[in-house]
Amino acid sequence: MSKYGVISEDTRLFLSRGNHGMIIDGELVPAISGMTIETFNPSTGESLGFIAAGDEADVNLAVHAARRAFQGEWSTWTPYDREALLLRAVDLFERHFEELIEIESLDMGAPIASMRRSKESHVRRMRYFAAMALNVRGETLPHGLGKNVHAMTIKAPVGVVGGIIPWNGPLGGQWWVMGAALATGCTTVLKPAEDACLSVIRMVELMREIGLPKGVVNVVTGYGATAGAALARHPDVDRIAFTGSTVTGRKIIEGSMVNIKRLQLELGGKSPDIVFADADLDKAVPGAAMGVFNNTGQVCFAGTRVLVQREIVNEFTARVGEFAKTVRVGRGLDPNSQLGPIVSQKQLDRVMSYIEIGEKEGAKLVTGGDRLRGELDNGYFVSPTVFGDVDSEMTISREEIFGPVLSIIPFDTIDDAIRIGNQTEYGLGGGVWTKNVSTALRVVNEIYTGTMWVNCYGLLDPLVGFGGTKMSGYGSKGGLAHLDNYLYTKCVYMQI
Ligand code: NAI
Ligand code: MG
Repeated sequence: MSKYGVISEDTRLFLSRGNHGMIIDGELVPAISGMTIETFNPSTGESLGFIAAGDEADVNLAVHAARRAFQGEWSTWTPYDREALLLRAVDLFERHFEELIEIESLDMGAPIASMRRSKESHVRRMRYFAAMALNVRGETLPHGLGKNVHAMTIKAPVGVVGGIIPWNGPLGGQWWVMGAALATGCTTVLKPAEDACLSVIRMVELMREIGLPKGVVNVVTGYGATAGAALARHPDVDRIAFTGSTVTGRKIIEGSMVNIKRLQLELGGKSPDIVFADADLDKAVPGAAMGVFNNTGQVCFAGTRVLVQREIVNEFTARVGEFAKTVRVGRGLDPNSQLGPIVSQKQLDRVMSYIEIGEKEGAKLVTGGDRLRGELDNGYFVSPTVFGDVDSEMTISREEIFGPVLSIIPFDTIDDAIRIGNQTEYGLGGGVWTKNVSTALRVVNEIYTGTMWVNCYGLLDPLVGFGGTKMSGYGSKGGLAHLDNYLYTKCVYMQI
């Protein structure tokens, strides 16, 4: 038993360093300025040590290392070499899985039991990128230029990719960038969030053991406004992959203007999850509830606006309220926890203020709404919260809360459901629960959003992918399109 609870020896050793360096050009290094940021366990409020407060100078070093690596030996690696590296990474990940999830659970609060269940989905994402390494291909094209001309396209890696990663699932989040960079032959500088970056440091550090060449993946930790902004505006970064808030997304776009960087942005959401009167409520109640509460509501595509047909709204509200009370909230490392804490004091304050606004604006608090005290007093815990009688004009149905707060909005007809469902500036996810295929397909077709779920919520597979529209950003994750973000197309005309 350590001061953190029951953890593996590997995790204890990692944490005992106290100071966690960054990874630049294959070396574990402190920030040039020597500055650090204290990092906390949101389950207990206790310190987990210090991360390096990287800034522009560190970002410069990392970008130069990534550029050198891009032009160096890495450029001679064949697709098979890169596939093999990604497959070795899968083995490495599986070998260190317990350590990595313990670190992540301590760092951002995710319940260890659900992290254990997520193993296969992590592994699949990595295997998907390994397979994609063998699937980068151009085309030979027909044309009207005569028999003596041969035309083709070559897909080439864009170069140095900056990956700005949020705190709500960095163990997986890092792979959307690192996996694609390794598959295509790009190099990368990852900037994980200051609130949870330890699993990124540890993963990339471990990758050195399996032959990751130095400089191919670098990690700069630090604040968004310093390290993140420096990466976003760096003239030698070709592309930024960003997941986070819409406000920060705008700043990334501004930074990208310096050298017309390519961007992939996955931003906020306020996704509608629409429950029709004919739905199987035994599935829809837990499905819609966990579509919000999962990861303590800290999920970009959470179905936070639950639209419920008026005939069943009372029954549904009562049942979701009951369900919310049965969800076990506890510390990340407690194997019984279904929901962990909110990631930080700042985010907790934000969630609590939205709950207060909801009550003030006249939404009916069905259950939850309070910060959990008692033995969870020092952590950042909120009880799963359900609001009934929510109106689509209210703040809680317009703004992303990023906490375990579900709002029930009643509707009458399918036309109403579609109209209210689309009453948002976001377009990331959406769900529909019904036994009627026509109803399901009409909603799927008419809700303007990047991802839709029918009679389920939040299923994901990298082979299929997901993404957003409107102010939720652009450039989908997964699918065949993902790699295109890391490649540029060269059109070649040959007179023969
Ligand atoms: P944020 O968008 O500021 O942070 C996400 C990442 O961007 C972090 O790595 C951060 O260091 C970096 N960053 C911050 N400012 C930057 C800048 N000027 N230039 C470059 N990088 C920068 O989000 P924050 O403040 O942690 O959370 C606020 C809200 O954002 C949440 O309540 C939630 O609504 C939303 N959010 C959405 C996420 C998603 O998955 N779509 C993930 C995290 C937050
Ligand atoms: Mg932390």
